[in-house]
Amino acid sequence: MSTETDVISGLEAAALRELGAVSDAAALEEWRVAFLGRKGRVTLLLRSLPELPMEQRRDVGARGNALKRRLDEELELRKQALESRRIEEVISDRVDVTLPGPPIPRGRLHPITQTLRDMLGVFKGMGFHAVEGPEVEWDHYNFEALRIPPDHPARDMWDTIWIDYEKDGRRPMLLRTHTSPNQVRFMEQHEPPIRIVVPGRCYRFEATDATHEWMLTQIEGLAVDKGISLTDLKGTLAAFARRIFGQDRQVTFRCSYFPFVEPGMEVSIDCFICRGEGCRTCGHVGWIEILGAGMVHPDILMSMGYDTDIYTGFAFGVGIERIAMLRYGVDDIRHFYSNDLRFLRQF
Ligand code: FA5
Repeated sequence: MSTETDVISGLEAAALRELGAVSDAAALEEWRVAFLGRKGRVTLLLRSLPELPMEQRRDVGARGNALKRRLDEELELRKQALESRRIEEVISDRVDVTLPGPPIPRGRLHPITQTLRDMLGVFKGMGFHAVEGPEVEWDHYNFEALRIPPDHPARDMWDTIWIDYEKDGRRPMLLRTHTSPNQVRFMEQHEPPIRIVVPGRCYRFEATDATHEWMLTQIEGLAVDKGISLTDLKGTLAAFARRIFGQDRQVTFRCSYFPFVEPGMEVSIDCFICRGEGCRTCGHVGWIEILGAGMVHPDILMSMGYDTDIYTGFAFGVGIERIAMLRYGVDDIRHFYSNDLRFLRQF
């Protein structure tokens, strides 16, 4: 074999080896320039043919041209392979707009919010309008103005979370234990006739059990007008219970004591679990208390400047969590605020 033939074989081997290592269009172009470009190695070889002795020229020329054709073909194949790979990569990265998107989790109202809204709807239908009051409250509104002075034994009815704060010589502050302070706040600013409901969070420093939470939601109701009687109170609460629970539930009114009403009462509904037999949820009494109520104490009406010969009123405070328990059949109040999605997703 001649030296020129060796050069062609070596050039072919080098060209194919380097082509095998090419992985993108830029490297392929470099390869083309290096071997097939104007000053490429194959081009220079073919250009040098006239310098060869006559007897080698034909053979080397034929082999050199065959090498150029082969490398042209290989270049084309490699170009196509790289292009196909690029297209595949683009396709695999592309978003398929026809595929369904990932599901978007939908939020929903907390069962207490749902119940609260339904209850407000019932009271609004009876002519009450909703107002709000502060959750952080003065002792004055939460207790004293409601006829519960310091050291009054009735304070024990509401275990209190106190706040160490003083303003303008006024103290102490607390997290309101009930929504009743809003009776006084509203009456201070308005004249009868009054028909309001006041929804809101309340806080109590007490141990929890199946029907007691340390944070609870109440709706306070207050009606003051000429000639309001206990019958109006009973009628309003019975109508409310029927609207929320239907006709089948048992409702009982029992005498009770709250310093800011006279007379006072408690309303209970038959336990939805034992239907009155007694169980853990109702504390083995067969009834679940849902609200406290009564006729607004004349002392309070007088302290507001109302003429008690003309005006009387009733008030009630109902616990939303207890209503939601009875309504949805929840056997433990603590489920509502335990943030367990398995529970909350059911509503
Ligand atoms: C009161 O809070 C009075 N302010 C109610 C009232 C208003 C009486 C107006 C007279 C006139 P009581 O502490 O009983 O009363 O609470 C009223 C209702 O709140 C209860 O019937 C119950 O439904 C709910 N409740 C009370 N304590 C808790 C608690 N720890 N967890 C959940 N709900 C509670």
